[in-house]
Amino acid sequence: MCSCYVSAMSKSQFVCQSCGAVTHKWSGHCDACDSWNTISEERGAAPASGAKGVRLPKGRPSRLVGLKGEDAAPPRIETGLAELDRVAGGGFVPGSGVLIGGDPGIGKSTLLLQALAALARRGRRVVYVSGEEAVAQIRLRAERLGLADANVLLATETNVSDIIATMSEGEPPALAVIDSIQTLWSPVVEAAPGTVSQLKAGSEALIRFAKQKGTALLLVGHVTKDGQIAGPKLIEHMVDTVLYFEGDRGHQFRILRAVKNRFGPTDEIGVFEMSDGGLREVANPSRLFLGHDARPTPGTAVLAGLEGTRPLLIEVQALVSPSPLGTPRRTTVGWDGNRLAMILAVLEARAGIAFGQSDVYLNVAGGLKLREPAADLAVAAALLSSMTDTVIPPGTVLFGEIALSGAVRPVGQTEARLKEAGKLGFSAAVMAAAGETPAAPGIAVKALENVADLTAWAAAQNRGLRRIA
Ligand code: TYD
Ligand code: MG
Repeated sequence: MCSCYVSAMSKSQFVCQSCGAVTHKWSGHCDACDSWNTISEERGAAPASGAKGVRLPKGRPSRLVGLKGEDAAPPRIETGLAELDRVAGGGFVPGSGVLIGGDPGIGKSTLLLQALAALARRGRRVVYVSGEEAVAQIRLRAERLGLADANVLLATETNVSDIIATMSEGEPPALAVIDSIQTLWSPVVEAAPGTVSQLKAGSEALIRFAKQKGTALLLVGHVTKDGQIAGPKLIEHMVDTVLYFEGDRGHQFRILRAVKNRFGPTDEIGVFEMSDGGLREVANPSRLFLGHDARPTPGTAVLAGLEGTRPLLIEVQALVSPSPLGTPRRTTVGWDGNRLAMILAVLEARAGIAFGQSDVYLNVAGGLKLREPAADLAVAAALLSSMTDTVIPPGTVLFGEIALSGAVRPVGQTEARLKEAGKLGFSAAVMAAAGETPAAPGIAVKALENVADLTAWAAAQNRGLRRIA
């Protein structure tokens, strides 16, 4: 055998722990994904593609088929936790791989144990493999959650070969949870658990097993401080579905979000509440994200938002106060700081309201992270309200995107937003003038062209109201 073939197999290589790019020498910066200090040395992993001396064996031709066929829609494994099933696209698909990411301690293990127990109670074979906790700990948790009687099969194992051997005995499980991929360890890869090579090799083997046996495989992955599933973007490419479990540890609310789904919609969310008895599903989450102040306060505005297909009313809180600093503070929780900077600039340039001497704080109630541009109008209204120390009339929702020109742009699903507002007792909506204005019984609609209209509206509303000193 050519010696270069051997050297390509056994030589160390340098793998970026963030994106998985392979280089032949160490460097502080990964050119592929532009991150720093993520490259580390690994041995024994598969050689980089194109490595000298690697020859493909002769292949067998596959049968080529047409697009049209008689394949039925994939059957689904419903866990019975409605919020989880909905986010997965109506249950999990047999043979599919699902990655569930989230901060440590957010409740991934709790959620999955509850899902497995619910399935086991319906007579399905389910396996929970933990590399993080001992059997006694898992049993204790099950006891506390009142799930100890459910027939969930437990194993504490980190060796991928042993996990596959365990699951291969008897009838293949309908659903298997591997908690977590960061603890997986494959004997054929000479790298520490948690490194990209180990994660990749372990996940690949498990996904292959799941595809062969028709098991729905749920892989748990911890996320790093900057919000990525630790290390591998490449695991996201290997699985069919990626779910993120997020929330603020200081709040009870947890949101399960689909960010990739080959078998269902993305941007769908499920809402849970962490309680003494584990995670509870929240079927009507709007009231969670509304404030509980009896009296309206300056600086709060209610957004008629949309999370996935689900309308949600969310309170946005702003505080604008004189700044003692040369460069005033801009702090956001639950919203993009750049977007705040943009709204402030637009308000200044198009409506003549200057925030240059003020600190600005923005908070989204309930620990929710807002992503949709429809929140712009509610944010601008909250900022104005705090700046002028006046209140937005109670019972008002706002939604609309703000352009750099100052124009208020329409957003999708107006009808669903107005309906949700009506359901929760709101009586007025402020939105874009352009676009559809569906009939909304019981809701007075105020349509705005631009941010100058917003300031005029806010001033008119407060003329009759008592100014809060
Ligand atoms: P866990 O599922 O272990 O999180 P992860 O697997 O994502 O790391 O959740 C741990 C947290 O949840 C812990 O801080 C305690 C809290 N918790 C409750 O509040 N109630 C409960 O019934 C359970 C089981 C956990
Ligand atoms: Mg856990």
